[in-house]
Amino acid sequence: MSHSNLEDSVASPETPGSKFYPPFAVTAELEAEADARISHYPESKRAATLPLLHIVQHHFGYISAPSIEWVAAKLSIEPIKVLEVVTFYPGFRQSAPGKFHIRVCRTLSCAMGGSYELMDRLCELTGIDRSASDSHHHPIAVSPCGKFSVEFAECLASCGSAPVCLVNDDFHEGVAVGKAEELLAKYTPQA
Ligand code: FES
Repeated sequence: MSHSNLEDSVASPETPGSKFYPPFAVTAELEAEADARISHYPESKRAATLPLLHIVQHHFGYISAPSIEWVAAKLSIEPIKVLEVVTFYPGFRQSAPGKFHIRVCRTLSCAMGGSYELMDRLCELTGIDRSASDSHHHPIAVSPCGKFSVEFAECLASCGSAPVCLVNDDFHEGVAVGKAEELLAKYTPQA
């Protein structure tokens, strides 16, 4: 797969959230972290595909075409094989999220508890337009300021405290629609 074909296959990464993430760059630290993970799989480097993609997303916010090429080169596999993994797992992002990425559970218990209403309210409060999102390739919608982004998620394994959501790595339970403002305030420094 040529570089231009790979670029065409990856969703456009630029969003208002891009300013919060460094552009992909191969540093000595990144190489060392990747090599350490690869060393866990002496029988098959390919098994390190998921760990390397997690490392990339942790450092750069999302999986870009150049990062796919780098992972493929590290593992001596074709970039298309890495792209297949990226597109298969919903947890891998192909565009920059906001500084605070909110994943709202939409599975049965949370849906019945009001997660769709919660999503609508979060979008209303942050100015997020989800009309172009919600497909497999564009699940993320970012606020105009880039500070917040939203995405529906499947069951987050806390059905008894629905509706629930994740903000980056923070888990929030019982987030009824009336608590949307309170939730966002936790991530908005007071003037
Ligand atoms: S249905 Fe939402 S956590 Fe299980």
